[in-house]
Amino acid sequence: MKLIHCKDYQEMSKKAAEIFAAQVILKPDCVLGLATGSTPVGTYEHLIEWYKAGILDFSQVKTVNLDEYVGLDETSDQSYRYFMNHNLFDHINIDKANTNVPNGKAPDIAAETDRYEALIKSLGGIDVQLLGIGNNGHIAFNEPHDAFDGRTHEVQLTESTIQANARFFASMDDVPKRAVSMGIGTIMQARKIVLIANGPKKADIIYETCFGPITPNVPASALQLHPDVTIIVDEDAYAAVAAKCGK
Ligand code: PGA
Repeated sequence: MKLIHCKDYQEMSKKAAEIFAAQVILKPDCVLGLATGSTPVGTYEHLIEWYKAGILDFSQVKTVNLDEYVGLDETSDQSYRYFMNHNLFDHINIDKANTNVPNGKAPDIAAETDRYEALIKSLGGIDVQLLGIGNNGHIAFNEPHDAFDGRTHEVQLTESTIQANARFFASMDDVPKRAVSMGIGTIMQARKIVLIANGPKKADIIYETCFGPITPNVPASALQLHPDVTIIVDEDAYAAVAAKCGK
């Protein structure tokens, strides 16, 4: 596990974007694993900028996203498909047919989770997966649990995640309570993983993720077992590591 600390959000975003840009340049038909949330927005802005500057070509790139809310699709501006279209796909030369987000409106969610897992396999697996992290250590929608979740599955969101998401919705009743999410096992099969985090609220969980015990109570701690993980944080998110590990 490699931990890189940057001075601010901009520098964190640029470093993460550089890894994804390098992947696209080295393997133009690569499979990128992508994430939603406020953290990756800056990373996507850099990728868009480098596409516009003629540095990156996404025409052969394929993508798979981590998760989607059950009941939402791209017609909802709170869906993760909408987020990806607006924050990245609409601004680069990617073929939308090559972009994949779980279908939150699938009539049979169990069948959708199986389809998504099989899809990732049929693409040959994920070359590099981007992750954010929840304040409680969740990655994708894998919440603190009794056991590590395996494959893509339907998730009942925890109260803390529902509360954290509420800011994006008109009322509490509108906040989705369920999601389709890649499992920890799916994520761990990515050949390379990049986790980004910024802000003081993420400081304790970054310390736990990197130096705490490997436990389903901190889903991101499973990453300690992966051979190629880079965690990129800003100064605020690095604070607990700096305090406890002496820099
Ligand atoms: P955030 O969410 O990027 O909005 O902080 C991260 C997450 O919950 O995975």
